[in-house]
Amino acid sequence: MSRMPVAAGDIREIAGQPVFVPLYKLFLAYGEMFILAIGPKKFVVVSDNDVAKEMLLTQANSFSKGLLSEILDFVMGTGLIPANGETWKIRRRVVVPSLHKKYVASMVDMFGDCGVHGSAQLAKSEAEGKTVEMENFYSRLALDIIGKAVFNYDFDSLKKDDPVIKAVYTVLREAEYRSVTFIPYWKVPPLQWLVPRQKACQEALVVVNDTLNMLIERTKKIVEDADEEFVEEYLSGDDPSILNFLIASGDDVTSKQLRDDLMTLLIAGHETTAAVLTWTTYLLATHPEQMRKVQEEVDRVIGDRRPTIQDMMELKYTTRVINESMRLYPQPPVLIRRALEPVTLDGYKIETGTDFFISVWNLHRNPRLWPEPDKFIPERFPLDQKMPNEVTENFAYLPFGGGQRKCVGDQFALFESIITLAMVCRRFDVDLDPAFHPDGECGMTTGATIHTTGGLHVKLKRRAGANGAEMGFDETVSSLDELEDVNTRGGTPEAASAAFDEKELQEAKDVKEAAVVVGAATVGASGVKSGSGGAKGESPSIEGERFDQAVAEAEDILAKEEAARVEAQKAR
Ligand code: HEM
Repeated sequence: MSRMPVAAGDIREIAGQPVFVPLYKLFLAYGEMFILAIGPKKFVVVSDNDVAKEMLLTQANSFSKGLLSEILDFVMGTGLIPANGETWKIRRRVVVPSLHKKYVASMVDMFGDCGVHGSAQLAKSEAEGKTVEMENFYSRLALDIIGKAVFNYDFDSLKKDDPVIKAVYTVLREAEYRSVTFIPYWKVPPLQWLVPRQKACQEALVVVNDTLNMLIERTKKIVEDADEEFVEEYLSGDDPSILNFLIASGDDVTSKQLRDDLMTLLIAGHETTAAVLTWTTYLLATHPEQMRKVQEEVDRVIGDRRPTIQDMMELKYTTRVINESMRLYPQPPVLIRRALEPVTLDGYKIETGTDFFISVWNLHRNPRLWPEPDKFIPERFPLDQKMPNEVTENFAYLPFGGGQRKCVGDQFALFESIITLAMVCRRFDVDLDPAFHPDGECGMTTGATIHTTGGLHVKLKRRAGANGAEMGFDETVSSLDELEDVNTRGGTPEAASAAFDEKELQEAKDVKEAAVVVGAATVGASGVKSGSGGAKGESPSIEGERFDQAVAEAEDILAKEEAARVEAQKAR
């Protein structure tokens, strides 16, 4: 690793932005493999498709999920995403068969039903002349879908708020918050933030776990009563959920492990799809020509009826739009790994324990790999060729990861996204609301997925010629804008369940700045340049003696933070 470039100097830029944006700038400056050194922590940032292939495929056994497993332990335990080693192997072998072909095909009708309910809510807002916040809409739609798919539970979140929905989102936001706070230069929460957060999160976990336990018991009974033979591609007629499959398979597992698996599927299968739909809608709202082509295709292939599995083959352009949207906005934008043993990558000898960010964002926008990388061009993936995936694109395209830890829900997610998008585009013209997006842009913020900074606010117009009679809506149910915003800006301190005052936010900024100063010192710099007024707000650049003082002060702040973090950990 000694010869690998080290990102130093303007590290300050990293703080306060979605992490993948400065990582992109650093990649352009330092190359496709470099070390990001922040204080005592070092990360290797990978933006090279061959190295990504080594890590995910060829040498996959030499890597674990590392930091991610530690962060997600509180919510997913040893569910598939954070699991490592033998546990992962065993659970993957059990869970993957539940998402078999017949199951995914059977979900298509449910996606269509949910699409109609969702469209009815959109039509209600349109009739009331209201702007719709699409990120909230898609999150709720995807939650309703995953609830039915995984444990046959109807959250009905497009129509109502209730304590279970609130608890799911509290837990989810906490998971997102932690997955971005582990980077010390990011936002290290002072103890006083942690305590109310922990409390709210613990309470929410109890609600979610109770609900999962109830669903497990209910499903056990359904399976017992049905007494169906468990065969390959088993699918219960009464309850085609993943939970039913797992119980019917006789999977001998603790209820804690089963809950971990369900929670993982609930979280993994929901926010990602909602984010893909949100950014695809943003891209189409800002690219009328591509929107017109999607609408032409959807009008021709499905019209007002519900999509079938055969239609998936025909909705080729719509699929390419989603493929291209996942290139520009990969969910998640960064994959996390840790070396379990010494490895050699691109000629560099890597020590055991090294933490990695495989930046999918960088790979997907790497100018060496993609012409006009920042442009939305669905046609770059020709309709008469195979659908792009990590294999066809030689690991330059990783919307669902690759190798042994590839997403288990890729087919499910693609069908869900195609159907939902097709049904919305068939029924509505979509324009950004200039009151919210005066410059036509939509800001990004980092969570586990890429969120919008202030929502995606659109004006919908019922399309002439699209029948839409099936969208009859109930005047008595809540309109979308009367429901709570579930997208409480994942990954920001403000996203927490507790409210923060100015003092607390200032303290967080100090911590961030301190980490930048210490990071600069660690990589041998003798000064830092600041975009926002110096480590302690005095001057835009700190050098010489003042730099040494700033480093000492910063180390003190970070040491206190670390102590607070350890205390909070113990209190959990
Ligand atoms: C568009 C939607 C989705 C996207 C973009 C997506 C993306 C990904 C990615 C990139 C990974 C690999 C993570 C890594 O290597 O570190 C992954 C893993 C995973 N995904 Fe998805 N996913 C989506 C939908 C789903 C759905 C619907 C489910 C379940 C029903 C699901 C379940 C999982 C699980 C369990 C893993 C972990 C697999 C393992 O480690 O063995 N995902 N997903």
